[in-house]
Amino acid sequence: MDKKFMEWKSDDVDAMVVVVGDASKLCDCIKPYYKRLIDKKVFEGKVGENALATVDCGSKLVDTVLVGGGNKINKKFLDGLAKAFRTLKGLKAEKIGFDFAGATGSIQKLSRSIGEIFTMANYDFDDFKSDSKPSTLKQLYFKGLDFDKQAYEEGVILGESNVYARILVNTPANILTPEKLSEYAKADGEKAGLEVEVKGLEEIRELGMKSYLAVAEGSDNEPKLIVLRWKGNKESNEVLGYVGKGVTYDSGGLSLKPSNGMMTMKSDMAGSAAVIAAIIGIARLGLKINVTAVVAACENMPSARSYKPGDIISSMAGKSIFVGNTDAEGRLTLVDAVTYMIEKEKATKLLDIATLTGAAVRALGETVSGVCTNDKKFYTQLEKSFKKMNENMWRMPLFDDYRELLKHYEADLNNAAGTPGMMTAALFIEAFVQDIPWLHVDIAGPSFASKATALHGKGATGAAVRPLIDLAKKLQ
Ligand code: BES
Ligand code: ZN
Ligand code: ZN
Repeated sequence: MDKKFMEWKSDDVDAMVVVVGDASKLCDCIKPYYKRLIDKKVFEGKVGENALATVDCGSKLVDTVLVGGGNKINKKFLDGLAKAFRTLKGLKAEKIGFDFAGATGSIQKLSRSIGEIFTMANYDFDDFKSDSKPSTLKQLYFKGLDFDKQAYEEGVILGESNVYARILVNTPANILTPEKLSEYAKADGEKAGLEVEVKGLEEIRELGMKSYLAVAEGSDNEPKLIVLRWKGNKESNEVLGYVGKGVTYDSGGLSLKPSNGMMTMKSDMAGSAAVIAAIIGIARLGLKINVTAVVAACENMPSARSYKPGDIISSMAGKSIFVGNTDAEGRLTLVDAVTYMIEKEKATKLLDIATLTGAAVRALGETVSGVCTNDKKFYTQLEKSFKKMNENMWRMPLFDDYRELLKHYEADLNNAAGTPGMMTAALFIEAFVQDIPWLHVDIAGPSFASKATALHGKGATGAAVRPLIDLAKKLQ
């Protein structure tokens, strides 16, 4: 899809999107349509509102969507633009012209957001449909704004990073095995200029990652420890560590999930998709910061070699863990990845991100990430990045009372400490973070959607990818 910033005319396009924010700036050919829709009260020009009209431009008819708002570049307005884009794509538009003359506010923000939302709205997961039709869209034209091209290009990279994570998450688990995930990470990571290392079973054993291996060894598909490094600031010893949960399929293991609960569990590697996509985005933007991403990828399957409820296992840090439930596997893979990140990659700040608990979904719903931390300042920085990217997160508390719940009479820790489930999972990880500034992001809800929006279809959403890139930008 090519983009052009120029004074296009209706002759150049076969579809249009017109922002009506300042209606006096509407072009003369649109005004009668706008007036008619307003008079008939089918369109009020509310922020994000869409109205479809077929405009007679003299030489031809042009499918046109009027989008309300534009006086503020907020989520509602941007969703309205994305929706308009999707409508016209559905009407088989080839060349869409956007008229932003009615928009006011920050040009930089609008330019960046446009790069993001059209990139995000342009992806649909239809790789496996025999009747999937290639998009007819060839060209986007923009006018009415003195575009900030650099901000726009940054937005495209943010959008493409979001889409990359969605591709990984949508790819089903029969195809996206730990090995396949590592191949994607290596190929696409190296293309972006990252250093990528993939360790197999033997090396993982040598590292003593016994907690991670306990989960992995029930599957015939070999685990892969994936490490991606971006050395954007060679003068600094600081390393921002991103650890992502990469369970490419979570059946629950011997504590088998019910069929319904398994249905979406190809998405249990959304944390890994987020960190891989984010570090590729960070590299593409050339951010001046050192970032390392670590993914302990594996499957959680029942078999004769599976770990069992009641087992006591060890970990890379040497702590013993009672296996209360083999379905609480994510934290077992994460804690060894966290130890590896601190001890081998020398991370000085750490963020882990995971589809970790059903409890997070019950508490916060499908669109909000739950966040726990030991560092208020780090938390505030992440919160700002989520806000800037129009994604939702909410802080959850870590009280000493909850820490008591992690204790087990036979081992140092219990992997299935009871309610409140999101916080006991976070505290389990905290026991391995060695007091460095730490953020824990539970994306069990927002990473996989049961409903389509303007920005994404049903399924993967790419949650937290753009905020993680923005956080690295802030910490440069
Ligand atoms: N991958 C699941 C969490 C999950 C549930 C993600 C729903 C997305 C949607 C995780 O491994 C899990 O099964 N957690 C258990 C932990 C429990 C056994 C302590 C849970 O949340 O029920
Ligand atoms: Zn599980
Ligand atoms: Zn899981």
